[in-house]
Amino acid sequence: MGLSSYSNGIYVDRIYQDLWIKGAAMQVGGRGCKERYEAIAGHFSTLQGPLKVLDIGANMGYFSFRLAERFPGHFVMIESSNSTTKRLLQLCLMNANPQISFLATRVNLAELEKILIAEQFDIILALSVIHHFDEPFNDIVKTFARHAKHVILEHASPEETHCPNPARIKAEPLNLTPYNPIKLCTSTATGYQHIFRDVYALKGSIEESRTAPPGLSLQTYAQHSGLYPHPTLLNPLLKKHQNKELLRIVNGEIRK
Ligand SMILES: C[S@@+](CC[C@H](N)C(=O)[O-])C[C@H]1O[C@@H](n2cnc3c(N)ncnc32)[C@H](O)[C@@H]1O
Repeated sequence: MGLSSYSNGIYVDRIYQDLWIKGAAMQVGGRGCKERYEAIAGHFSTLQGPLKVLDIGANMGYFSFRLAERFPGHFVMIESSNSTTKRLLQLCLMNANPQISFLATRVNLAELEKILIAEQFDIILALSVIHHFDEPFNDIVKTFARHAKHVILEHASPEETHCPNPARIKAEPLNLTPYNPIKLCTSTATGYQHIFRDVYALKGSIEESRTAPPGLSLQTYAQHSGLYPHPTLLNPLLKKHQNKELLRIVNGEIRK
């Protein structure tokens, strides 16, 4: 998904995030990324690595690509929109970071919960995405917190009208109190100068001492339309191996 704006009589498809390619940004996105990244990276610095991170609604991958350059671990991006997934695959190929995987799929909460149970992420990045889901927003946050050590959450403001589900955002205020929220930053919502979205770090229920299985299982990759590493590399392995759940993509290699 990008941002559509009306300009000189035509709709222009603008990109939501800046494009991040190997250590540098092209400042083309309609939504501020740098300030949010700096606040999130500051929080990551306080956590014990390596970190296994799920980036839901990764868009152009800005956060995963940048965080993966700075922090050891594994970063799995989920993105659903057709036009965005094509661009995101190109960006994965250009960044060529072995700590990155990409699932090109639209997930609902039940599917997401299956992935969370199978993969055991330390951190869930859910930036400006839960208002795209059909399930109650507070149920989504509860599920995230149940399956992760930390959740980094940004939600649309009830004052916004130009975003998906504005009526539900008003009707379903989030209760973050059970998760000891720490506000990391505030930035303007897309298209507004006086409406803001806050990014919070939430404490999840998973113990800090749990060690997640490294990388991503081939089973999760196969079941959820894995697109990076590219299927041309992985499909021969998927055909060959019966026990996909035993094989994992770790640092760009297949391991048992
Ligand atoms: C508003 S953008 C936020 C992008 C990014 N997280 C950020 O804050 O910069 C929401 C993104 O989530 C994706 N998305 C929305 N619902 C989704 C779903 N159910 N599964 C996967 N991706 C989804 C959209 O395609 C879009 O790229």
